[in-house]
Amino acid sequence: MTAWWRDAVGYEVYVRSFADADGDGVGDLPGIVARLDHLADLGVDIVWVTPFYPSPMLDHGYDVADYTDVAAELGSLADADALVAGAHDRGMRLLVDLVPNHSSSEHPWFRSARRGRDDPYRDYYVWRDPAPDGGPPNNWRSHFGGPAWTLDETSGQYWLHLFLPEQPDLNWANPAVHDEFEAILRFWLERGADGFRIDVAHSLVKHPDLPDDPLAVVSDEYEAGVTADDFEALEHRYDLDQPGVVDVYRRWRGIADEFGAVLIGEVYILEAGGLDRYLTAEGLHLAFWFAPLHRVWDPAALRAVLREGTDLAQRVDGGVGWVQGSHDVSRAVARYGGGQVGRERALAFGVLLSLLPGTPFLYQGEELGVDDPVIRPEDAQDPIAARNGAYDKGRDVARTPMPWAPGPGLGFTSAPRAWLPFGDRRPEDTVAVQRADPASTLSAHRRLLAARRPLLPLPRDVAWLTDDGGVVAYRRGDVVVAANLGDDPEDVDLGAPGASVRFGTDRAREGSPAGPRVRLAPREAVILAS
Ligand code: NOJ
Repeated sequence: MTAWWRDAVGYEVYVRSFADADGDGVGDLPGIVARLDHLADLGVDIVWVTPFYPSPMLDHGYDVADYTDVAAELGSLADADALVAGAHDRGMRLLVDLVPNHSSSEHPWFRSARRGRDDPYRDYYVWRDPAPDGGPPNNWRSHFGGPAWTLDETSGQYWLHLFLPEQPDLNWANPAVHDEFEAILRFWLERGADGFRIDVAHSLVKHPDLPDDPLAVVSDEYEAGVTADDFEALEHRYDLDQPGVVDVYRRWRGIADEFGAVLIGEVYILEAGGLDRYLTAEGLHLAFWFAPLHRVWDPAALRAVLREGTDLAQRVDGGVGWVQGSHDVSRAVARYGGGQVGRERALAFGVLLSLLPGTPFLYQGEELGVDDPVIRPEDAQDPIAARNGAYDKGRDVARTPMPWAPGPGLGFTSAPRAWLPFGDRRPEDTVAVQRADPASTLSAHRRLLAARRPLLPLPRDVAWLTDDGGVVAYRRGDVVVAANLGDDPEDVDLGAPGASVRFGTDRAREGSPAGPRVRLAPREAVILAS
């Protein structure tokens, strides 16, 4: 039997910016429940909701103070139950975002651990004496910039944090930490969650000796000191992707499989070969393939990165989560040049992702083709920008409120202000306007996902039909998917003479015979099937 998550369509909800039910300017769980029909109508199967635990929100929920409760600002455990039930009623599954690499410094474990070297929770975290000169124990840097160590004045030891100082890394060499997380998995699975997105899933385990990381070869844009570029200055040989991390997932896999649940890892490794060992039959069910997010709009580069991800999907037991955006990166539309061209490019690329072997995920707002807004420095919330001064790297551009309807509050909130600026959305960016317009990006996504479903399952084999030029195309069984990623029209033989157009970014083509050769306008994409 095919696992339910294979070929499913995922959708990432950034909880603080999806829908605000209580009018405080921050999205919440009841807001998501009230908007579940949007996701069901779109054709979504799996809803991943970003962290909603109690948290000081210094990294907007990725700093967890209690793994088995809900932040009052975002709802209650009863609201989480209602969310699971609401998703299930509509035939969708719900994934909780699990953050096992670090907790918040406000977590009772860390508060206790800070009491002193003899505290029973001390060993839940990674502590080391200072280097001989009194400085940090090694050269590791935080993902957000600056040293990965902060001195605890009380005990005279440093604690490790690969993110903010207020996000201390948990010590995965301590079996008690394993036990705690296994109980946390069960807590949410018993409440009906269908699995987990695992935050920085290639992290957790560190080299036991904590050696210095070697220096990396860095780009010309590297700026030492204040920015997240600091992290790129090192080759992460000892702090990330350590051999033992997959042992953690072997144990979690057993638990997830008891419940028929899925584990999907944010394994941020940009060479596909590095993902194999995470995607064994005893490992993660799925891992996101992030390399496309790091390519410029160039047909050859994009073709290569799709092939690399496809090869991975074909050789591993697990599956590939295909993405072109998330709450951590500039929106695809903006990366591809912005405006109408950026929107058309993102849609065309999304069509290619939709039928590759694996599980395509949309990030909220992608179905609308929204662009990055301008975030003024004084409005910045993301710690990368607000605390480390790296305004050009701030992630707020991808996190502004979902535009549901024209007018003040965008149908997102009744409050005059939201936690982030609304982002100058136009009426035509909103769900309400796009739903009524058959030519909108939203309508295209609904048609795409509706056309895709009856074509599944497809054979795992993928034949790539073009090796150069602007058109990227592949065949799986009787289905051909093609997109012109170039800037000129192209005539191509897609080898599907008897096929008809099941989906077209130009909807006038749908239902018509494909013909022996297909002429694709720039940024046009089609799905053909016989
Ligand atoms: C990855 C998450 O997606 C990001 O938003 C967060 O800041 C880091 N992990 C740390 O948890």
